[in-house]
Amino acid sequence: MGFLDGQVVIVTGGARGQGRSHAVAAAREGADVVLLDRCADVASIKYPQAVESDLRETESLVRDCGVRALGIICDVADREQAARAFDQAHDRFGRIDVLIANAGVYGGGSIQDADHDVWDEVIGSNLTGVFHSLRAASPRMIEQGYGRIVVTVSNQGRTAVPGSVPYVSSKWGAVGLVKAAAHDLAPFGVTVNGVAPGNTSTKMVHNETLYRAMRPDLANPSWDDVEPAMRAHHVQPIALLEPSEITAAVMFLIGPGTPHITGSIIDVNAGTAARTTA
Ligand SMILES: NC(=O)c1ccc[n+]([C@@H]2O[C@H](COP(=O)([O-])OP(=O)(O)OC[C@H]3O[C@@H](n4cnc5c(N)ncnc54)[C@H](O)[C@@H]3O)[C@@H](O)[C@H]2O)c1
Repeated sequence: MGFLDGQVVIVTGGARGQGRSHAVAAAREGADVVLLDRCADVASIKYPQAVESDLRETESLVRDCGVRALGIICDVADREQAARAFDQAHDRFGRIDVLIANAGVYGGGSIQDADHDVWDEVIGSNLTGVFHSLRAASPRMIEQGYGRIVVTVSNQGRTAVPGSVPYVSSKWGAVGLVKAAAHDLAPFGVTVNGVAPGNTSTKMVHNETLYRAMRPDLANPSWDDVEPAMRAHHVQPIALLEPSEITAAVMFLIGPGTPHITGSIIDVNAGTAARTTA
């Protein structure tokens, strides 16, 4: 028996990375899990996104835990696709108890040179996509008188770094969305919180585009060339967190012990929190 027995958990961006880690952890606690992922590259984002086989692999890892899984290809930035996918999930399983709004892309650029298409995509996936997901899940949660929502923001939604205007803006926006929605859903037994990861070991970090952006002085930068700068983002002397560390915070927020934590952000960022004012 797990603490999510009989519950239905939706994970956006569930094909790989942190989303996969959250999905499998929820399944281990007994939840049926719905995975939404776009499973497609987009022109403005210069590192590979998940592919359909990633989504099917996560589905199978969830099923291996003895629960039901449903993987849906869905771009959460698209209002109609998102609404359809949440309808499909509800039709299949009859309820939505937990939403982990984790889908996101990284796109940088300074205020002088950020590309407009990168801005549109990053705000679309990281902020509007979260809005669409909460909008679709919350009526079901209100009806049930119960719901747990966790939004994956970022260290870059708690502070700012140079040359990251689209991403920083999207994640600060997502923090605002968490706090505003926490007010609106408080009377209905629905909590809304965020987790703010530091650099986490997924393909969002492990890709040539990011290495090149961080080390424009080198022709073929490798992980070893960017590791010191990644480490410098944190206060504790590590370059990367593991997805399971973010999952631990998510599980805390959707577990039985935290009905009265809402509107909060949990920093899981190797101490970067110690540099921010609050
Ligand atoms: N990896 C890090 O260092 C880090 C740090 C802080 C926050 N984050 C955030 O964590 C979350 C998870 O990222 P990750 O590290 O697992 O990276 P990832 O690239 O491995 O996973 C992101 C997933 O989201 C999916 N996705 C992207 N846009 C989508 C859309 N519009 N609709 C549906 N699916 C979409 C991708 O296909 C991919 O499967 C993101 O919100 C990211 O911004 C990551």
